[in-house]
Amino acid sequence: MQLFIDTADIEEIKSLNITGLIDGVTTNPSLIAKSGRNIISTIEEICNEVSGPVSAEVTAIDFDSMLLEGKKLSSIAQNVAIKVPLTYDGLRACKVFSEDDIMVNVTLCFSAAQALLAAKAGATFISPFIGRLNDIGADGMNLISDITEIYDIHGFETKVLAASIRSVQDIVDSAKLGADVATVPPKFLKAMYDHPLTDKGLSDFLSDWKKTGQTIL
Ligand code: E4P
Repeated sequence: MQLFIDTADIEEIKSLNITGLIDGVTTNPSLIAKSGRNIISTIEEICNEVSGPVSAEVTAIDFDSMLLEGKKLSSIAQNVAIKVPLTYDGLRACKVFSEDDIMVNVTLCFSAAQALLAAKAGATFISPFIGRLNDIGADGMNLISDITEIYDIHGFETKVLAASIRSVQDIVDSAKLGADVATVPPKFLKAMYDHPLTDKGLSDFLSDWKKTGQTIL
């Protein structure tokens, strides 16, 4: 399973990317707004840092303007994945970009029917939003399960990118259900390695080791 970072904060991206465990980055208009920076220079900087797919979202809602924005974003770097919303115009734009061999991430997916259409439109990634479904009392994981089942049965190559992650358990559950990617806010990536028993175990080992008076180097 691949792990993307869900942020436009370049310093967070740099500090996590040096681990070698990050496979890509996703941004959205809200994350760009939160960074307080220009979208073009931010995506450029992220693409210089990370070699995997970097999702940059169009903000136009009509087909023609989506194509123009998508082409501009795509010209920033080869690893840009154009993010389009799961709308009629977004699906049309997805089909055009995918036929041009441009990576597309179809975002704001909330149903299996939407995911089926995105796959047929040639999406590289489909982004089901787990957390936002759970927020309204629906079952985000059920959607991941439905999409992976449909894609497997019909041999679609579109990758299931679990988005709107709200906990480490969301990442684990998505992995168990066969999601290809999870895009994770930095705080949950850090929470993935933190464990109190690891901290306690390390502290005990070091305390016993100190008593030996030995050094390895
Ligand atoms: C994914 O591509 C989206 O940017 C993101 O996961 C949305 O998450 P949120 O629902 O926490 O805003």
